Amino acid sequence: MEKLYEGKAKIVYTGPEVGTYRVYYKDDATAFNGQKRAQIGGKGVVNNRVSSTLFRYLEAHGVPTHFLGELSEREMLVRQVEIIPLEVIIRNRAAGSFAKRYGVAEGTPLAKPLVEFSLKNDALGDPLIYDDAVLALGLASANELSRIKELALQVNELLKAFFSQRGLEVIDFKLEFGRLPGGTVVLADEISPDTMRLWEVGTGEKMDKDRFRRDLGGVEEAYQEVLRRVTGGPA
Ligand code: C5P
Repeated sequence: MEKLYEGKAKIVYTGPEVGTYRVYYKDDATAFNGQKRAQIGGKGVVNNRVSSTLFRYLEAHGVPTHFLGELSEREMLVRQVEIIPLEVIIRNRAAGSFAKRYGVAEGTPLAKPLVEFSLKNDALGDPLIYDDAVLALGLASANELSRIKELALQVNELLKAFFSQRGLEVIDFKLEFGRLPGGTVVLADEISPDTMRLWEVGTGEKMDKDRFRRDLGGVEEAYQEVLRRVTGGPA
């Protein structure tokens, strides 16, 4: 098994068959572009199991993904894709960098779900990028961009429905997309409490990585609770 890439939260190895990767989820957590680092006990297990469950659910509802199967509690088998170097962020309420950039209170509902793109580049701090710059830089084609937006909004509707049945509201989240060898665009990377904001319905309690970013305490407990609700079925 050859190690191909080690990122902040995951390690990618060659898979058992040609055209596959094995993804290992670590407990390492980073925030603010790697300036804050720690371990969150059990996070790798939570993120692998939550991501696997969500990829299966999305596939069952017609969203093409790179997911092939869960190999162990920390490992996932995925299709090899060429990652499109964009962080695709979908927002339902203002929070985080959006709330700061536009000077609005966190939690302000948005009139419609928003799809935002950032360039995936740690050295530059993942700067916001607009469609014409994506096209000018040749990062994706116009057809790919419209497909990405369509899929992102479809995923948003599906995730909102899934989590609302489990007492959690999807505030925002980040997706990544990749190209299969034939060029088909599929959902890739992960969907987990590391990459989403989830607020408990009723209490507004944050149940995601903001507990770590903002030193709110109860980080491990929040991740375990998300896993319990995701795998436990509708409340
Ligand atoms: O920080 P910001 O408000 O832009 O984040 C929006 C959403 O995207 C959050 O759910 C955050 O967890 C996720 N995100 C991510 N990876 C990044 C940046 C943001 O998963 N590099």
